Amino acid sequence: MSTPPQHHPSPTELDDLELLVTGAAAPIVGFNEPGSPLTLTLPDDLATADVVELVDPEGLPLARVTPRGDAGWPVEALTHAQYGPFRSLYLSPADVRERYAGRTFVPVVDALTDTQIEDLQGLGPVVLLALAGAGTPELSPVALVRATLTAAAMLTAADVVVVPLAAHGDADTDHALGAQVVGIYAGGDPVHGLVDGLVDGGDLPDEIAVIVDRDQPTPEERGLVLFFTGLSGSGKSTLARALMDRLLERGERPVTSLDGDVVRRHLSAGLTFSREDRETNIRRIGWVAAEIARHGGVAVCSPIAPYDETRQQVRAMVAATGGAFFLVHVATPLEECERRDRKGLYAKARRGEIPEFTGISSPYEEPTDADLRVDTTGRSIDAALDDVLVALRDAGYLDLTDTDAPPLVEVRAEHPLVEVRAQRASKPAEPTNPSAPLRVLFVCTANICRSPYMELAARRLVGGDPSVTFSSAGTHGLDAQPMSEEMLPGYETDADGFRSRRVNAEMITSADLVLTAEAAHRTFLLEEHPEAFRKVFSLGQFAEAVAAHGSTTTGRELVEKVGRHRSAADPRDDVADPYRRGPEVAAACSARIDGLLAIVVPAILQNRATQ
Ligand code: ADX
Repeated sequence: MSTPPQHHPSPTELDDLELLVTGAAAPIVGFNEPGSPLTLTLPDDLATADVVELVDPEGLPLARVTPRGDAGWPVEALTHAQYGPFRSLYLSPADVRERYAGRTFVPVVDALTDTQIEDLQGLGPVVLLALAGAGTPELSPVALVRATLTAAAMLTAADVVVVPLAAHGDADTDHALGAQVVGIYAGGDPVHGLVDGLVDGGDLPDEIAVIVDRDQPTPEERGLVLFFTGLSGSGKSTLARALMDRLLERGERPVTSLDGDVVRRHLSAGLTFSREDRETNIRRIGWVAAEIARHGGVAVCSPIAPYDETRQQVRAMVAATGGAFFLVHVATPLEECERRDRKGLYAKARRGEIPEFTGISSPYEEPTDADLRVDTTGRSIDAALDDVLVALRDAGYLDLTDTDAPPLVEVRAEHPLVEVRAQRASKPAEPTNPSAPLRVLFVCTANICRSPYMELAARRLVGGDPSVTFSSAGTHGLDAQPMSEEMLPGYETDADGFRSRRVNAEMITSADLVLTAEAAHRTFLLEEHPEAFRKVFSLGQFAEAVAAHGSTTTGRELVEKVGRHRSAADPRDDVADPYRRGPEVAAACSARIDGLLAIVVPAILQNRATQ
């Protein structure tokens, strides 16, 4: 038995109800009539319409209304809603009066207690009118019907009819409207007000308590949307990823990441950065996140989401599914984001090459409703993550602060957990033909400076050796651009036919080794291809590993060995972006690549052992 639900009508309210019911007469046939509690508010552009059709969410016309100034707006029914749970229990007042004439009618707005059920037993045949609608009862409409059907099964002669009745946010209006509607269904037959379950100390019968409990998830079962908003480079994706890892380590909740950059490659592919498209992008993220919350999952979202209004819409979408919404403003200032400029986008935006760039030429509206504000300037990710974990715990949503709790998977000390996860996600390795050429893919941001240079320089280094092939691609940027001229000296002829391209899944799958200019590129690729973690490295990281594990017989073996024993990719080993930073920077960049390739390329030649 659990405690009875709250908010039963008081005995005085019940008296009022009966009075009103007695007085209730005609069916509701109009909106906006003087004295009527029913108001229909139309959008401005429909205010002068002659006739307005009311349609269901799929566009099926349900009713027609004729707006007629203050004189009241007549409603003509066109059809009934055709679907929805317990649809067959939604009867019209006329059907109810015909089918159940002479019964006693009992309005029900909450789960019935044992004393209430006992009280009804003495009444003879009853019709339980479940007043179900958005916002009416403590229970969700569908759970109210389920609980009422269970109560009816405990009575000797009881039927259930569902009456759709949405709350209007005003107790008096709702009360008057409820009484009027019940009267119409009863059509002159007696209406019985339930005794107050709270006053006489009734309990919910076990069968009903189960229904109520299931309908009201505990905080641990409730869907949750963690929404990180902030400028590009503010650290929101990194924080969101760290939080994801924490959630995955715990393994207690199903969790989905909806990162801005990743979403734009799938769900929102093709959208621009205009205000309209950004709003569409965020609403899509909100819609998916709300669905995840509906199923009790956790969605971790990390788009820029620069507009307050759109963030509010997401909040409302999540609330409508019963989920919790937790907004984190990653408030790292623009100067710091621009100083980091990990993707080189701020520099391009300042040069006018990226229009409508958030913070530079497109606005970011700071949230005033954030549950937490974190500035990552000068702070480690762990420290910033701690702020988020503490705030989540204090808000009662999720306690991930207890790091002593054993993870569900036993982890061997030499393997960080995140990689155990990636192993699980990976498909069984395809058998490789050991004599096939080793396919190497170089990756940088736009595939116009660093990665094409790596491709051309590596090709020159191997000469005509057929045991290895080289290609390149970019994580961002445009397709079919020529190589940047600054990186060309010495390679003009080789680069003639070169055109940039964006990296895709097929390129990653078919490569044996992927070498990136920066650690961030590696992270970017692994986000979508976690199974590739044994073959994607930053060039600097791989060069270090070659020094440590270089004594293998073939290049393929070397890649496997480095894959098993690799160290973390350190951003200090990155090959920095030279794009439009002048000839000296470009020359230094190519010299650095030359140095790294001089270590890497000889080591990956397949047949070097026999040379
Ligand atoms: S949002 O405004 O619609 O929320 P979203 O988070 O999806 O943006 O995408 C932002 C990411 O796209 C940034 O991290 C950056 O890598 C990239 N980007 C490309 N062009 C722009 C731009 N004009 N403004 C902001 N970010 C951009």
